[in-house]
Amino acid sequence: MALLFPGVALVTGAASGIGQGIAVAFAKDGCSRIALCDINVSGLEETKLLVLQVAPEAQVLVVYVDLSKEQDVKEMVHKTVQKFGRVDYAVNTAGM
Ligand SMILES: NC(=O)c1ccc[n+]([C@@H]2O[C@H](COP(=O)([O-])OP(=O)(O)OC[C@H]3O[C@@H](n4cnc5c(N)ncnc54)[C@H](O)[C@@H]3O)[C@@H](O)[C@H]2O)c1
Repeated sequence: MALLFPGVALVTGAASGIGQGIAVAFAKDGCSRIALCDINVSGLEETKLLVLQVAPEAQVLVVYVDLSKEQDVKEMVHKTVQKFGRVDYAVNTAGM
């Protein structure tokens, strides 16, 4: 069966709630390169574990980012492209 998401996913707000659910859903649907981005580091580590539970072969990049800071946003994209070469799917769920 063809993978639904063969590319690279970047998810902000990935430490909890909708973003965490979307990150796990990407992994379940065959996305094996995922950048998990949030200001909440412990939540990001939890999401990483959840992703690896459903897709042990996945490559997960954890990115600490404060999205209210432009420089952080640039670095988030740069780190993701540096590791995975590209971004195919960007999901921005961070918020309050
Ligand atoms: N859950 C819902 O039913 C619902 C409905 C409508 C709208 N929303 C909105 O959608 C967004 C996500 O909802 P959720 O339920 O997943 O919320 P959530 O609080 O579970 O997740 C939001 C994430 O954003 C992160 N975040 C906040 N500020 C940040 C910053 N400056 N930099 C980086 N990360 C930051 C938080 O650490 C958190 O992990 C929110 O803006 C919420 O208001 C949610």
